[in-house]
Amino acid sequence: MATDRAAFHVRDRWALVTGASAGIGLAYARVAAEHGFDLVLTARRKPRLDELAQELERTYGRRTFVVPADLAEPDAPQRLFDAVQQQGITVDMLVNNAGFGSRGYFRKTQWKDHAAFLQVMVTSVVHLTHLFEPGMVERGWGKIVHIASLAGLMPGSAGRTLYGPAKAFLIKFAEGLSGEHDEDGVTVTAVCPGFTYSEFHDVVGNRDAVSRLPKLMWMDADTVARQAYEAAMQGRVVLVNGAPNRALAALMKHFPDRLARELTRRGAPRAGAADDQT
Ligand SMILES: NC(=O)c1ccc[n+]([C@@H]2O[C@H](COP(=O)([O-])OP(=O)(O)OC[C@H]3O[C@@H](n4cnc5c(N)ncnc54)[C@H](OP(=O)(O)O)[C@@H]3O)[C@@H](O)[C@H]2O)c1
Repeated sequence: MATDRAAFHVRDRWALVTGASAGIGLAYARVAAEHGFDLVLTARRKPRLDELAQELERTYGRRTFVVPADLAEPDAPQRLFDAVQQQGITVDMLVNNAGFGSRGYFRKTQWKDHAAFLQVMVTSVVHLTHLFEPGMVERGWGKIVHIASLAGLMPGSAGRTLYGPAKAFLIKFAEGLSGEHDEDGVTVTAVCPGFTYSEFHDVVGNRDAVSRLPKLMWMDADTVARQAYEAAMQGRVVLVNGAPNRALAALMKHFPDRLARELTRRGAPRAGAADDQT
């Protein structure tokens, strides 16, 4: 059995990537296609997904299936699963990547916005995993990847009050779930990028603030995606992308909690996290 798994060939297997219309998700879809996966692409912006699908078919000769979906809608994961099933597609790699940042004090943000944030960042990830995981176990091979964040390993930060906890949840979820997959061919990986060039900070609206951060702290989406793919294929449970981010995560782990919180508090306004608190 172990030999069968080692010989598992990714060619003609399907990977499903959420948030494939931009940034890390788009880059991950390209990397997976390059390695022989066919791709289910989902996000809200269909024209972008169609464009990517054509590129992956043309460049890598892969099959693609585009399913536009808004993951803030509670029934989106089930609809996505049903659409994939109806095509006879079996998903062997699930990449929970879709996401966005939050900005502004918790009490100043309407509940409907908090609820949508939690739906996309937490509940949809858990729901999609619950839908696709049993098929992977049945087939004896599967990769579940959550794109979490370095923020999930740092103390909570004012103005991004739900972002860190949402990402910490994904890391703990990956750790727990991976423990349920000893020896069955399925692995679960939480990927923790730091600042990454993508559309993320334009959507949050703090591009100017984060642009002032040192270049050393930034990575490009392609590098993050390649490292994420490799970590998933190696079955790593948690990956922190890049040496500076790994150093920061290690420091925060070893600092006394109060000092770590104070350093995070001082750094937050520079990152544009808590600058609209009126
Ligand atoms: N960039 C960073 O510095 C950074 C650092 C650490 C972690 N991350 C994490 O990396 C992941 C990808 O972010 P990114 O940097 O690549 O950002 P991005 O360029 O803004 O891409 C975000 C993707 O998520 C999709 N998305 C957002 N809301 C959605 C919704 N309601 N339903 C379906 N799809 C939705 C977007 O597609 P549509 O708009 O077309 O729906 C887009 O494809 C996120 O989970 C983010 O938290 C990013």
